[in-house]
Amino acid sequence: MEFPPFDHLRFYEGVHDVPLNISYSNIQGFTLGEFHKALPRNLDLNWTDERGPPQLRRLIARRTRVGIERILVTSGATEANFLANAALVRPKDRVVVDSPIYSPLRDCAAGLGGDVIPVGRDCKSGWSLDLDRIRKAAGGKAKLLVFANLNNPTSSAIGRSEMRELADIAEECNGYVLVDETFRELAFRRTPPSVAEFGPRMIALSTVTKLGGLGGLRVGWIVAHPQLIERCKAVKDYTTICGSSVSQELATWALRRWDFFRRRAKRILDGNRKLVEDALDRMPSLHGEIPTSGTVMFPHSDVNVTKLTQRLVRKYKTVIAEGRFFGLSDHFRLGLGGNVNELRRGLRNVRRALRDLV
Ligand SMILES: Cc1ncc(COP(=O)(O)O)c(C=O)c1O
Repeated sequence: MEFPPFDHLRFYEGVHDVPLNISYSNIQGFTLGEFHKALPRNLDLNWTDERGPPQLRRLIARRTRVGIERILVTSGATEANFLANAALVRPKDRVVVDSPIYSPLRDCAAGLGGDVIPVGRDCKSGWSLDLDRIRKAAGGKAKLLVFANLNNPTSSAIGRSEMRELADIAEECNGYVLVDETFRELAFRRTPPSVAEFGPRMIALSTVTKLGGLGGLRVGWIVAHPQLIERCKAVKDYTTICGSSVSQELATWALRRWDFFRRRAKRILDGNRKLVEDALDRMPSLHGEIPTSGTVMFPHSDVNVTKLTQRLVRKYKTVIAEGRFFGLSDHFRLGLGGNVNELRRGLRNVRRALRDLV
């Protein structure tokens, strides 16, 4: 096994001390104190259920409209992605991956020896999914087809009829469809259903990280057919065995109040989206609609993105995420879910850096 370097993560490690980062995909961080609640004194710190505490699995099952036997709690969506790939992908297996995409969704299969075929979307067609090209790339033999709904970095959505067709393609291939639904519930007006509703070949994964601003809990999950859940669990036996009882308790609190977290996310995003709209009007070298859903956008830049990124870090102490991390080098990712004042200052710096470089 040889995993491609996770360049995006390495990049963040290198700019950790830069004061303004307007590229993150999470909603503003949430703190323990904001729960206004104490941990139960009898919380068992010696053992947790390998599949995740039943009350947590019940909450996840309800949100994805499936039975509890289809849920496996994991250490974030990161472990969920790894477990699903490790359970399914063998060397030389064909894996079709939507592009641009959050890189571990593409590179995990490559690390396991899979033959990864990216199928690109185009900003000129509004980042729409080209199902004919996906079917062709699958070639009747793809073991796995990988997507994110909403997509990271474009925030574009996959709808019901597209999910049905993806299920058909998986059937033709005797394969599976994996959809990272980390951002699904951030489509407030028309929330797409979980792909888990679309049959035994469909696998969903998600997390409390982004919508909740709860990334430090490291709690995510997989939703899949019970037989596949058992295969993922057999891999989890070698990665983490089970999650942290403290984190899973806090994630249970969060999911009990998930509608509060969604309202909080919407309030933050609505304000920030307006700010970005005004700012982009004054940056003619950037192109792209501000998505109506999700926490990220992926503008095209007429200015070289690597130069822009370097200029922003060195002169303006501001971080954006280069598009090459996601598979498209003439775009970059902006986060819409952060602190409003930081976003305002960061966008002003992007305007100045662009002015320096044109
Ligand atoms: C699409 C997507 N999935 C998963 C993750 C990571 O999730 P977690 O913190 O639950 O491991 C990210 C983080 O950026 C992401 O963008």
